[in-house]
Amino acid sequence: MREGKSNNLERLKDLRRVTSFVVDGNIVGFENDAKMLLGKLLEDEPRRYVVSIFGMRSLGKTTLAKNLYHNIDVLNKFKCRAWVCVSQDYKTEDLLRRIVKSFEVKINGMELEKMSGEDLERCLYKSLQGCLYLAVIDDVWQKEAWESLKRAFSDDNNGSRVIIITRIKEVAERSDERIHVHKLRFLRPDESWNLLCENAFRKSNANEELEKLGRETVEKCSGLPLAIIVLGGLLSTEKPQEWRSIHDHFWQHLRNDSIHIPSLLTLSFNDMPYQLKLCFLYLGIFPEDFKFFIEKAIRLLVAEGFIREDDDRVMEEVAKNHLDELINRSLVQIENICRGRVETCRIHDLL
Ligand SMILES: Nc1ncnc2c1ncn2[C@@H]1O[C@H](COP(=O)(O)OP(=O)(O)O)[C@@H](O)[C@H]1O
Ligand SMILES: [Mg+2]
Repeated sequence: MREGKSNNLERLKDLRRVTSFVVDGNIVGFENDAKMLLGKLLEDEPRRYVVSIFGMRSLGKTTLAKNLYHNIDVLNKFKCRAWVCVSQDYKTEDLLRRIVKSFEVKINGMELEKMSGEDLERCLYKSLQGCLYLAVIDDVWQKEAWESLKRAFSDDNNGSRVIIITRIKEVAERSDERIHVHKLRFLRPDESWNLLCENAFRKSNANEELEKLGRETVEKCSGLPLAIIVLGGLLSTEKPQEWRSIHDHFWQHLRNDSIHIPSLLTLSFNDMPYQLKLCFLYLGIFPEDFKFFIEKAIRLLVAEGFIREDDDRVMEEVAKNHLDELINRSLVQIENICRGRVETCRIHDLL
Protein backbone atom coordinates (compact mmCIF):
# COMPACT_ATOMS: atom_id res chain seq x y z
CA MET A 1 0.00 0.00 0.00
CA ARG A 2 2.73 2.43 1.06
CA GLU A 3 4.74 1.48 -2.00
CA GLY A 4 1.78 2.21 -4.25
CA LYS A 5 1.38 5.62 -2.67
CA SER A 6 5.01 6.57 -3.04
CA ASN A 7 4.98 5.41 -6.65
CA ASN A 8 1.98 7.57 -7.35
CA LEU A 9 3.71 10.48 -5.71
CA GLU A 10 6.77 9.95 -7.91
CA ARG A 11 4.57 9.83 -11.00
CA LEU A 12 2.85 13.04 -9.96
CA LYS A 13 6.24 14.67 -9.45
CA ASP A 14 7.32 13.47 -12.89
CA LEU A 15 4.22 14.88 -14.47
CA ARG A 16 4.73 18.24 -12.79
CA ARG A 17 8.31 18.40 -13.97
CA VAL A 18 7.39 17.60 -17.55
CA THR A 19 4.82 20.37 -17.69
CA SER A 20 7.26 22.92 -16.31
CA PHE A 21 9.94 22.19 -18.93
CA VAL A 22 10.92 24.99 -21.22
CA VAL A 23 10.28 23.64 -24.71
CA ASP A 24 12.98 24.34 -27.25
CA GLY A 25 11.35 26.69 -29.74
CA ASN A 26 9.87 29.07 -27.17
CA ILE A 27 11.84 32.22 -27.62
CA VAL A 28 12.82 34.87 -25.16
CA GLY A 29 13.79 38.28 -26.51
CA PHE A 30 13.69 37.61 -30.24
CA GLU A 31 9.98 38.36 -30.59
CA ASN A 32 10.58 41.30 -32.94
CA ASP A 33 13.03 39.32 -35.01
CA ALA A 34 10.43 36.57 -35.30
CA LYS A 35 7.72 39.03 -36.28
CA MET A 36 9.89 40.61 -38.94
CA LEU A 37 10.95 37.28 -40.42
CA LEU A 38 7.40 36.02 -40.33
CA GLY A 39 6.49 39.03 -42.46
CA LYS A 40 9.11 37.94 -44.98
CA LEU A 41 7.78 34.40 -45.14
CA LEU A 42 4.18 35.46 -45.49
CA GLU A 43 4.46 38.58 -47.68
CA ASP A 44 2.85 38.70 -51.11
CA GLU A 45 6.07 38.43 -53.08
CA PRO A 46 5.58 35.59 -55.54
CA ARG A 47 9.24 35.19 -56.43
CA ARG A 48 10.93 32.56 -54.33
CA TYR A 49 13.71 33.90 -52.17
CA VAL A 50 16.02 32.82 -49.40
CA VAL A 51 15.84 34.16 -45.87
CA SER A 52 19.16 33.61 -44.16
CA ILE A 53 19.56 33.62 -40.39
CA PHE A 54 23.13 34.37 -39.53
CA GLY A 55 25.02 34.48 -36.25
CA MET A 56 27.57 32.77 -34.06
CA ARG A 57 27.21 29.31 -32.57
CA SER A 58 24.52 28.85 -29.90
CA LEU A 59 23.03 32.29 -30.43
CA GLY A 60 19.56 30.82 -30.97
CA LYS A 61 19.35 30.59 -34.77
CA THR A 62 17.81 27.11 -34.86
CA THR A 63 15.42 28.03 -32.05
CA LEU A 64 14.23 31.12 -33.90
CA ALA A 65 13.77 29.21 -37.15
CA LYS A 66 11.86 26.49 -35.32
CA ASN A 67 9.57 29.10 -33.87
CA LEU A 68 8.80 30.32 -37.40
CA TYR A 69 8.47 26.80 -38.78
CA HIS A 70 5.75 25.95 -36.26
CA ASN A 71 3.92 29.27 -36.48
CA ILE A 72 0.24 28.76 -37.22
CA ASP A 73 0.17 31.17 -40.20
CA VAL A 74 3.21 29.45 -41.65
CA LEU A 75 1.52 26.07 -41.24
CA ASN A 76 -1.54 27.44 -43.00
CA LYS A 77 0.36 29.01 -45.87
CA PHE A 78 2.98 26.37 -46.64
CA LYS A 79 1.39 23.00 -47.18
CA CYS A 80 4.77 21.42 -48.03
CA ARG A 81 7.49 21.86 -45.47
CA ALA A 82 10.88 20.31 -44.91
CA TRP A 83 13.70 20.72 -42.41
CA VAL A 84 17.22 19.35 -42.86
CA CYS A 85 20.45 19.88 -41.02
CA VAL A 86 23.52 20.00 -43.25
CA SER A 87 26.61 20.30 -41.00
CA GLN A 88 30.18 20.51 -42.13
CA ASP A 89 30.68 17.39 -44.18
CA TYR A 90 27.67 16.29 -46.12
CA LYS A 91 26.87 14.48 -49.32
CA THR A 92 24.38 16.19 -51.60
CA GLU A 93 22.75 12.86 -52.37
CA ASP A 94 22.19 12.09 -48.72
CA LEU A 95 20.87 15.60 -48.18
CA LEU A 96 18.40 15.20 -51.05
CA ARG A 97 17.25 11.93 -49.58
CA ARG A 98 16.60 13.54 -46.23
CA ILE A 99 14.77 16.43 -47.89
CA VAL A 100 12.55 14.00 -49.82
CA LYS A 101 11.80 12.23 -46.55
CA SER A 102 11.10 15.46 -44.70
CA PHE A 103 8.69 16.70 -47.41
CA GLU A 104 7.04 13.27 -47.11
CA VAL A 105 7.24 12.85 -50.87
CA LYS A 106 5.53 9.68 -52.09
CA ILE A 107 7.95 7.62 -54.14
CA ASN A 108 6.17 5.11 -56.25
CA GLY A 109 7.74 1.69 -56.47
CA MET A 110 11.25 2.91 -55.65
CA GLU A 111 13.39 2.45 -52.60
CA LEU A 112 14.64 5.76 -51.28
CA GLU A 113 17.98 4.33 -50.24
CA LYS A 114 18.63 2.95 -53.71
CA MET A 115 17.77 6.11 -55.65
CA SER A 116 20.61 7.95 -57.37
CA GLY A 117 21.20 11.67 -57.01
CA GLU A 118 19.50 12.28 -60.34
CA ASP A 119 16.49 10.17 -59.41
CA LEU A 120 16.15 12.10 -56.19
CA GLU A 121 16.39 15.47 -57.91
CA ARG A 122 13.81 14.49 -60.50
CA CYS A 123 11.45 13.08 -57.91
CA LEU A 124 11.74 16.13 -55.65
CA TYR A 125 11.31 18.53 -58.55
CA LYS A 126 8.17 16.79 -59.75
CA SER A 127 6.58 16.62 -56.37
CA LEU A 128 7.29 20.29 -55.58
CA GLN A 129 5.86 21.52 -58.88
CA GLY A 130 2.93 23.79 -58.15
CA CYS A 131 3.48 23.42 -54.40
CA LEU A 132 3.85 26.31 -52.04
CA TYR A 133 6.76 25.12 -49.96
CA LEU A 134 9.01 26.15 -47.12
CA ALA A 135 12.39 24.45 -46.70
CA VAL A 136 14.72 25.07 -43.77
CA ILE A 137 18.34 24.19 -44.34
CA ASP A 138 20.09 24.34 -41.00
CA ASP A 139 23.78 24.75 -40.25
CA VAL A 140 25.11 25.45 -43.75
CA TRP A 141 28.86 25.91 -44.05
CA GLN A 142 29.36 26.47 -47.79
CA LYS A 143 27.40 28.64 -50.16
CA GLU A 144 27.59 25.83 -52.70
CA ALA A 145 25.28 23.70 -50.53
CA TRP A 146 22.09 25.49 -51.59
CA GLU A 147 23.44 25.88 -55.13
CA SER A 148 23.72 22.11 -55.46
CA LEU A 149 20.20 21.53 -54.15
CA LYS A 150 18.49 24.35 -55.95
CA ARG A 151 17.77 22.67 -59.25
CA ALA A 152 15.67 20.09 -57.44
CA PHE A 153 13.44 22.86 -56.05
CA SER A 154 10.89 23.82 -58.67
CA ASP A 155 10.34 27.60 -58.71
CA ASP A 156 6.79 28.40 -59.75
CA ASN A 157 6.54 32.02 -58.66
CA ASN A 158 4.02 31.13 -56.00
CA GLY A 159 5.63 32.61 -52.88
CA SER A 160 7.71 29.62 -51.75
CA ARG A 161 10.55 30.34 -49.32
CA VAL A 162 13.81 28.79 -48.21
CA ILE A 163 15.44 29.51 -44.85
CA ILE A 164 19.19 29.03 -44.63
CA ILE A 165 20.77 29.01 -41.17
CA THR A 166 24.47 29.64 -40.96
CA ARG A 167 27.41 30.93 -38.95
CA ILE A 168 29.25 32.00 -42.09
CA LYS A 169 28.76 35.53 -43.40
CA GLU A 170 29.47 34.59 -46.99
CA VAL A 171 26.86 31.82 -46.90
CA ALA A 172 24.31 34.21 -45.40
CA GLU A 173 24.90 36.84 -48.05
CA ARG A 174 25.78 34.95 -51.19
CA SER A 175 23.95 31.62 -51.28
CA ASP A 176 21.35 32.91 -53.72
CA GLU A 177 20.74 35.91 -55.95
CA ARG A 178 17.52 36.67 -54.07
CA ILE A 179 18.27 36.70 -50.39
CA HIS A 180 17.17 38.53 -47.26
CA VAL A 181 19.88 38.42 -44.58
CA HIS A 182 18.93 38.51 -40.94
CA LYS A 183 21.83 38.93 -38.53
CA LEU A 184 20.90 37.67 -35.10
CA ARG A 185 21.93 39.77 -32.11
CA PHE A 186 22.87 38.84 -28.57
CA LEU A 187 20.24 38.93 -25.84
CA ARG A 188 20.00 42.17 -23.87
CA PRO A 189 20.59 42.15 -20.09
CA ASP A 190 16.88 42.08 -19.20
CA GLU A 191 16.15 39.36 -21.73
CA SER A 192 19.11 37.37 -20.38
CA TRP A 193 17.73 37.70 -16.88
CA ASN A 194 14.28 36.53 -18.00
CA LEU A 195 15.78 33.51 -19.73
CA LEU A 196 17.83 32.71 -16.64
CA CYS A 197 14.73 32.93 -14.45
CA GLU A 198 12.82 30.54 -16.72
CA ASN A 199 15.56 27.98 -16.32
CA ALA A 200 16.75 28.58 -12.77
CA PHE A 201 13.47 29.05 -10.94
CA ARG A 202 10.87 27.46 -13.19
CA LYS A 203 7.87 28.51 -11.15
CA SER A 204 9.32 30.10 -8.03
CA ASN A 205 10.71 33.63 -7.70
CA ALA A 206 14.07 35.11 -6.77
CA ASN A 207 14.47 37.09 -3.57
CA GLU A 208 16.38 40.37 -3.70
CA GLU A 209 19.76 38.92 -2.87
CA LEU A 210 19.48 36.05 -5.36
CA GLU A 211 18.30 38.46 -8.03
CA LYS A 212 21.36 40.65 -7.52
CA LEU A 213 23.71 37.66 -7.70
CA GLY A 214 21.83 36.14 -10.62
CA ARG A 215 21.80 39.35 -12.63
CA GLU A 216 25.51 39.87 -12.04
CA THR A 217 26.34 36.33 -13.08
CA VAL A 218 24.11 36.22 -16.14
CA GLU A 219 25.61 39.48 -17.37
CA LYS A 220 28.84 37.59 -17.87
CA CYS A 221 27.09 35.23 -20.28
CA SER A 222 27.25 38.15 -22.75
CA GLY A 223 23.74 37.50 -24.06
CA LEU A 224 24.52 34.01 -25.33
CA PRO A 225 21.36 31.91 -24.81
CA LEU A 226 23.03 28.51 -24.51
CA ALA A 227 25.35 29.77 -21.77
CA ILE A 228 22.38 31.31 -19.98
CA ILE A 229 20.25 28.16 -20.01
CA VAL A 230 23.13 25.95 -18.86
CA LEU A 231 23.86 28.41 -16.07
CA GLY A 232 20.13 28.41 -15.20
CA GLY A 233 20.10 24.60 -15.17
CA LEU A 234 23.09 24.57 -12.84
CA LEU A 235 21.63 27.17 -10.47
CA SER A 236 18.28 25.36 -10.40
CA THR A 237 19.96 22.36 -8.75
CA GLU A 238 21.78 24.43 -6.12
CA LYS A 239 20.61 25.76 -2.80
CA PRO A 240 20.46 29.58 -2.73
CA GLN A 241 23.52 29.73 -0.45
CA GLU A 242 25.58 28.01 -3.20
CA TRP A 243 24.85 30.76 -5.71
CA ARG A 244 27.53 32.94 -4.19
CA SER A 245 30.25 30.32 -4.69
CA ILE A 246 29.18 29.74 -8.32
CA HIS A 247 29.23 33.49 -8.89
CA ASP A 248 32.71 33.69 -7.35
CA HIS A 249 33.93 30.69 -9.33
CA PHE A 250 33.06 32.42 -12.60
CA TRP A 251 34.69 35.63 -11.50
CA GLN A 252 37.93 33.72 -11.13
CA HIS A 253 37.60 32.22 -14.62
CA LEU A 254 36.44 35.16 -16.71
CA ARG A 255 37.81 35.44 -20.25
CA ASN A 256 37.45 38.85 -21.92
CA ASP A 257 35.04 39.72 -19.15
CA SER A 258 32.73 36.81 -20.11
CA ILE A 259 32.04 33.43 -18.64
CA HIS A 260 34.37 30.93 -20.22
CA ILE A 261 31.85 28.49 -21.73
CA PRO A 262 33.97 25.32 -21.35
CA SER A 263 34.43 26.12 -17.66
CA LEU A 264 30.66 26.59 -17.30
CA LEU A 265 30.09 23.21 -18.95
CA THR A 266 32.75 21.58 -16.78
CA LEU A 267 31.16 23.00 -13.67
CA SER A 268 27.73 21.78 -14.73
CA PHE A 269 29.16 18.37 -15.59
CA ASN A 270 31.14 18.03 -12.35
CA ASP A 271 28.06 18.91 -10.37
CA MET A 272 26.23 15.80 -11.60
CA PRO A 273 26.09 12.47 -9.79
CA TYR A 274 28.15 9.70 -11.36
CA GLN A 275 25.18 7.88 -12.92
CA LEU A 276 24.00 11.05 -14.62
CA LYS A 277 27.48 11.73 -16.00
CA LEU A 278 27.49 8.25 -17.53
CA CYS A 279 24.13 8.83 -19.21
CA PHE A 280 25.15 12.21 -20.57
CA LEU A 281 28.40 10.86 -21.98
CA TYR A 282 26.59 7.90 -23.52
CA LEU A 283 24.21 10.23 -25.35
CA GLY A 284 27.30 11.55 -27.13
CA ILE A 285 26.92 8.60 -29.53
CA PHE A 286 24.20 10.54 -31.33
CA PRO A 287 25.48 12.79 -34.13
CA GLU A 288 25.65 16.53 -33.42
CA ASP A 289 22.30 18.33 -33.27
CA PHE A 290 20.60 14.96 -33.87
CA LYS A 291 16.95 14.63 -32.89
CA PHE A 292 16.47 11.42 -30.91
CA PHE A 293 13.41 9.73 -29.46
CA ILE A 294 13.43 9.69 -25.69
CA GLU A 295 11.98 6.16 -25.62
CA LYS A 296 14.82 4.95 -27.80
CA ALA A 297 17.42 6.62 -25.59
CA ILE A 298 15.84 4.97 -22.55
CA ARG A 299 15.96 1.52 -24.16
CA LEU A 300 19.55 2.01 -25.26
CA LEU A 301 20.69 3.18 -21.84
CA VAL A 302 19.08 0.18 -20.18
CA ALA A 303 20.27 -2.34 -22.77
CA GLU A 304 23.85 -1.07 -22.66
CA GLY A 305 23.97 -1.47 -18.88
CA PHE A 306 24.25 2.21 -17.95
CA ILE A 307 21.35 2.14 -15.55
CA ARG A 308 21.67 0.89 -12.02
CA GLU A 309 18.78 -1.09 -10.55
CA ASP A 310 16.66 0.67 -8.00
CA ASP A 311 14.63 -0.96 -5.18
CA ASP A 312 11.22 0.22 -6.21
CA ARG A 313 11.55 1.40 -9.78
CA VAL A 314 12.10 -0.47 -13.00
CA MET A 315 15.24 0.45 -14.90
CA GLU A 316 13.30 2.27 -17.62
CA GLU A 317 11.88 4.59 -15.00
CA VAL A 318 15.32 5.29 -13.57
CA ALA A 319 16.62 6.04 -17.07
CA LYS A 320 13.68 8.34 -17.72
CA ASN A 321 14.43 10.18 -14.49
CA HIS A 322 18.06 10.66 -15.48
CA LEU A 323 16.99 12.09 -18.84
CA ASP A 324 14.53 14.44 -17.11
CA GLU A 325 17.34 15.58 -14.87
CA LEU A 326 19.58 16.28 -17.89
CA ILE A 327 16.74 18.27 -19.44
CA ASN A 328 16.30 20.25 -16.23
CA ARG A 329 19.98 21.06 -16.33
CA SER A 330 19.56 22.22 -19.96
CA LEU A 331 22.20 19.78 -21.13
CA VAL A 332 19.57 18.02 -23.22
CA GLN A 333 16.99 20.12 -25.06
CA ILE A 334 13.41 19.13 -25.73
CA GLU A 335 12.52 19.03 -29.42
CA ASN A 336 8.86 18.22 -29.10
CA ILE A 337 6.22 17.22 -26.62
CA CYS A 338 3.36 14.95 -27.53
CA ARG A 339 0.29 14.70 -25.27
CA GLY A 340 2.15 16.23 -22.35
CA ARG A 341 5.13 13.90 -22.63
CA VAL A 342 8.56 14.62 -24.00
CA GLU A 343 8.88 12.76 -27.29
CA THR A 344 12.14 13.87 -28.92
CA CYS A 345 15.26 15.69 -27.73
CA ARG A 346 18.59 16.87 -28.99
CA ILE A 347 21.95 17.89 -27.60
CA HIS A 348 23.45 21.11 -28.86
CA ASP A 349 26.67 20.50 -30.79
CA LEU A 350 28.56 22.76 -28.41
CA LEU A 351 27.72 20.40 -25.58
N1 LIG B 1 15.71 33.34 -27.62
C1 LIG B 1 15.79 32.22 -26.93
N2 LIG B 1 14.93 31.97 -25.93
C2 LIG B 1 15.02 30.84 -25.21
N3 LIG B 1 15.94 29.90 -25.38
C3 LIG B 1 16.82 30.08 -26.36
C4 LIG B 1 16.80 31.23 -27.19
N4 LIG B 1 17.79 31.13 -28.07
C5 LIG B 1 18.40 29.98 -27.82
N5 LIG B 1 17.84 29.33 -26.79
C6 LIG B 1 18.28 28.08 -26.22
O1 LIG B 1 19.69 27.97 -26.45
C7 LIG B 1 19.99 26.74 -27.06
C8 LIG B 1 20.92 27.00 -28.24
O2 LIG B 1 20.19 27.63 -29.25
P1 LIG B 1 20.22 27.15 -30.77
O3 LIG B 1 19.02 27.71 -31.42
O4 LIG B 1 20.41 25.69 -30.86
O5 LIG B 1 21.54 27.92 -31.25
P2 LIG B 1 22.24 27.94 -32.68
O6 LIG B 1 21.33 27.23 -33.64
O7 LIG B 1 22.41 29.38 -32.99
O8 LIG B 1 23.54 27.24 -32.47
C9 LIG B 1 18.69 26.11 -27.51
O9 LIG B 1 18.62 24.81 -27.08
C10 LIG B 1 17.59 26.91 -26.86
O10 LIG B 1 16.97 26.15 -25.87
MG1 LIG C 1 21.69 25.48 -34.70
